[in-house]
Amino acid sequence: MTGPITCKRRGPLIGSIEVPGDKSISHRALLFAALATGPTRVRNILDAEDVHATRGAVEMLGARVTEEAGELRIEPPEKLVEPADVIDCGNSGTSLRLLTGVLSAVPGLSVLTGDASLRRRPVRRVLDPLRRMGGNFTARDNDRVPPVVIRGGPLRGVRHVLEVASAQVKSAIVLAGLFAEGETSVVEPAASRDHTERMLAEMGVPLRISGLEVTVTPGRPKGGTVDVPGDLSSAAFFLCGAAGLPGSTVTTCNIGLNPTRTGLIDVLQAMGADLRIDNVRQSAGEPRGDVTVRGGALRATEIAGPIIPRLIDELPVLMVLATQARGRTVIRDARELRVKESDRLAVMGAALTAAGAKVELFEDGCAIEGPTRLHQVSVETRLDHRIAMSMAISQLFMNGEEVRLDDVSCIATSFPPFFGLLDELCRGGGA
Ligand code: S3P
Repeated sequence: MTGPITCKRRGPLIGSIEVPGDKSISHRALLFAALATGPTRVRNILDAEDVHATRGAVEMLGARVTEEAGELRIEPPEKLVEPADVIDCGNSGTSLRLLTGVLSAVPGLSVLTGDASLRRRPVRRVLDPLRRMGGNFTARDNDRVPPVVIRGGPLRGVRHVLEVASAQVKSAIVLAGLFAEGETSVVEPAASRDHTERMLAEMGVPLRISGLEVTVTPGRPKGGTVDVPGDLSSAAFFLCGAAGLPGSTVTTCNIGLNPTRTGLIDVLQAMGADLRIDNVRQSAGEPRGDVTVRGGALRATEIAGPIIPRLIDELPVLMVLATQARGRTVIRDARELRVKESDRLAVMGAALTAAGAKVELFEDGCAIEGPTRLHQVSVETRLDHRIAMSMAISQLFMNGEEVRLDDVSCIATSFPPFFGLLDELCRGGGA
């Protein structure tokens, strides 16, 4: 779906759905498979633009990617090759940052770029640590933003202490560490998502994990099978919509429940949401299960500290939900939201304020006083899928009034069937 759209739906949300595969895990499956010594099969990979960007990149580096019976099969090259052209990562920060780590060790010249949103996002956080390992880079605006030009060469292992909890930066360093001489370690200030560590371990790479420190030595993954769970960050839109709309019952099946990603579940419970988790199981190193939420009265809560990296991508839709909770919800320590696909604090703050919410913005978060009945609003989505989807959900709290979104093509980066599933839930799961 492209261009502008008017949302005019009514809840409650009722039904049981599966959302597409986890974006973070899908990127890693493609990239790690391309580094492997043998083939990898990936089940339930996310079919969306961000992951297509990573697939295009690994093909340029010499991997062969084919589809077989609904699964992807990746055959790695003997050695990654110098890409013949600029690699376009589109809207995807994960593609760009993880590839920077890998390409810093691939002999030759690589150039990474992306769309207007990605070309505003900071890269020094990944270039600086990789430089300490011997990486050779130049980036636009005094090394601040993409395009990034990389001259691949030999690397040496270094111990890094990160100032920001970022799985993208941690993963870029760990990937570079697979090619470096000696040991490479990364220490984070708080735990960010650990899909890289889990998947590399499943693929036979020895990693040492001690608290917030991960250490790798040079090596190659073996390949294998990856079974991608549904993306909790996509399910979040419907779970939050259901939580705030009395009469709703939504089950999202086969959802990833990695504890470094489940901050949303903790917050919904703290807000008093009626939430249940069933069928918890483990596959390909990642826990998963079915999450059911029923609508009801919610209370305000505080979201700050080490929980922030565990729900960073869910904060825009949690800001929407906070408008429906009784009391003052406070979000702190979330400065990172300002350097996502857009400045999500500023954009969500402005959109919700225009819709009648009581929002106070801070440098690192916000306070939202509820409950408020929202009213119609026009929103610029700023090439940011999560702004578009969060504001589409906000419309459910407008008692039939409309939300106009100027451009929803960005939703194709992570969740192409979003509106179809939302319609299904609004119809109560019926035809
Ligand atoms: C991601 C890490 C997070 C997250 C992003 C995906 C990943 O970013 O916001 O959507 O797959 O590693 P940071 O690592 O920059 O916090």
